[in-house]
Amino acid sequence: MCGIVGYVGLNDSIDVLLGGLSRLEYRGYDSAGVAVIDETGTIRTRKRAGKLAVLAGDLKSGAMETSHTGIGHTRWATHGAPTDGNAHPHLGDDGKLALIHNGIIENFSPLKQELLDEGFAFESETDSEVAAVLLGREYRKTNNLREAFQNVVARLDGAFTLLAVHENEPGLVVGARRNSPLVIGLGDGENFLASDVAAFVEYTQNALAIGQDQIVSITPDKVEVTDFFGAPVEVEPFEIQWDASAADKGGWPSFMAKEISEEPDAVANTLRGRIDADGQVVIPELNGLDELFVDINRVVVIACGTAAYAGQTAKYALEKWAGIPVDVELSHEFRYREPVITPQTLVVSISQSGETMDTLMAVKYASEKGAKTLSICNTQGATIPRESDAVVYTHAGPEVAVASTKAFVAQITALYLFALHLARVRGTQSAEVLAEQSAELLAVPAKIATILEESGVVEELARWMSDSRAVLFLGRHVGFPIALEGALKLKELAYIHAEGFAAGELKHGPIALIEPGQPVFVVVPSPRGSAMLHSKVVSNIQEIRARGAKIIAIAEEGDAAVLPFADTVIRIPLAAPLFEPLLAVIPLQIFAMELAIAKGLDVDQPRNLAKSVTVE
Ligand code: G6P
Repeated sequence: MCGIVGYVGLNDSIDVLLGGLSRLEYRGYDSAGVAVIDETGTIRTRKRAGKLAVLAGDLKSGAMETSHTGIGHTRWATHGAPTDGNAHPHLGDDGKLALIHNGIIENFSPLKQELLDEGFAFESETDSEVAAVLLGREYRKTNNLREAFQNVVARLDGAFTLLAVHENEPGLVVGARRNSPLVIGLGDGENFLASDVAAFVEYTQNALAIGQDQIVSITPDKVEVTDFFGAPVEVEPFEIQWDASAADKGGWPSFMAKEISEEPDAVANTLRGRIDADGQVVIPELNGLDELFVDINRVVVIACGTAAYAGQTAKYALEKWAGIPVDVELSHEFRYREPVITPQTLVVSISQSGETMDTLMAVKYASEKGAKTLSICNTQGATIPRESDAVVYTHAGPEVAVASTKAFVAQITALYLFALHLARVRGTQSAEVLAEQSAELLAVPAKIATILEESGVVEELARWMSDSRAVLFLGRHVGFPIALEGALKLKELAYIHAEGFAAGELKHGPIALIEPGQPVFVVVPSPRGSAMLHSKVVSNIQEIRARGAKIIAIAEEGDAAVLPFADTVIRIPLAAPLFEPLLAVIPLQIFAMELAIAKGLDVDQPRNLAKSVTVE
């Protein structure tokens, strides 16, 4: 939620800030703003409600003078509607200071009252302006932006990343973070601060990850990081493993279309270097942890949104291969009850961004309660892996479209790798069985590529169905979480009421929803995997068809049993049952995207959503 970027260097800061914000827009897109210190040493601010394009158009028409220091913000509103006035930056010290914020300042109300009592005035309804005014007050006492920050962070509760500039100190951007993301980009004669490396990867691939409760200042040739009390701290350098072109549309009409096309690579890159010549999974990042994995007696998977459905899918493989009980929970539900956690509990978090606040808080809670924590994450330098005992990165590359697609298949792939690693270490499967499963995994990218090549049926279907008011999704076993994910994609992208059900649950209630013409997608399990499961799903299809449902079956090549009962059959290549989710989800993603396009919607930035949800 909210993207922030700061710059000092020789380039024109407006160019750098707008470029950075365009790559961070997935984090929030209801308003945007910049503040720069121009060549006369004056703060200039421009902020506009609406998408970044509105601000960019404004900046072009009323050109701002060249500047070399600045901060920029793209907002997802929490406190105060998305208006010009509530957009960031906010000003302090009589307009000499500008500040941007990501997060929520939970004690903003008493702080605001304190400042009002002292005669300070406010121009917005935001919690963030309180930090700006407070920083201005502290600046007047210290005449030093860094020291003023130390005073301010000591007063704030909640989650925040703050960046600020002050007219008296041109060539300096100061930032602070607690529980919201911030990374440093190290350039040559220029430095950057941003929510995510995507903002500066065009200029540098060298980055520094900052820890919690730290203050950072950048000048064109110096970076200083301290704790909240001013004591210097060590920071972790890392190299960004993709270049700016990976975060561009590359000729595709949308990031979503591009990211779906990248799914074969997302799986292949996640597998790379993790399966040895004998077909055994060895995850180098988990070296030295065998004892821990033998010692655990339970796995709890925590995640939100699409990542949680990746967890639900992987539960079947983890239990089957590694013979260990697995519970999958939404992070925000896990965190606010009293889950039973012991030192033998392994908590596996899944997060594309590595910044989802609900998941971060749940990981911290699990650690405090003595659990071991493993993060499955797609973003280097992110907070959740840094807070975890171990990390297995997915290598899906940057995912920009708000609704997750390629990260989902990469997450399932990483979890399957982890399940096979765990099974080997715990000795629950023979080397032959493990090698068979890893061979299945290695075959997935080519199978996804085949589905992508034959997506015409799905595209046509989406066009026909663009007037649908509600769509249902059914699945059984590993097809169940895929039904849930299919429904989520349709809600997120096409704003259509959609629900996923376990096919076996149909007769216990949902069947009452079926009326003539109701479209129902059914994820049909392979008859080769389990004839019994397959025949039960075919029976479920008949039950709803008898009541008028319009059936769209997703079934493997050659499955003829569904033909008499389905209005449309979408074929997926043959795969062992546990691997079918990696294939069956692809047509559902394409369907949701195409239907949203047919309705004229923005598939990359659906209404009300943000990709990285950094508030609870
Ligand atoms: C948001 C996004 C979803 C995503 C979820 C979890 O709700 O809109 O697409 O699945 O967050 O995100 P994470 O980064 O933790 O995987």
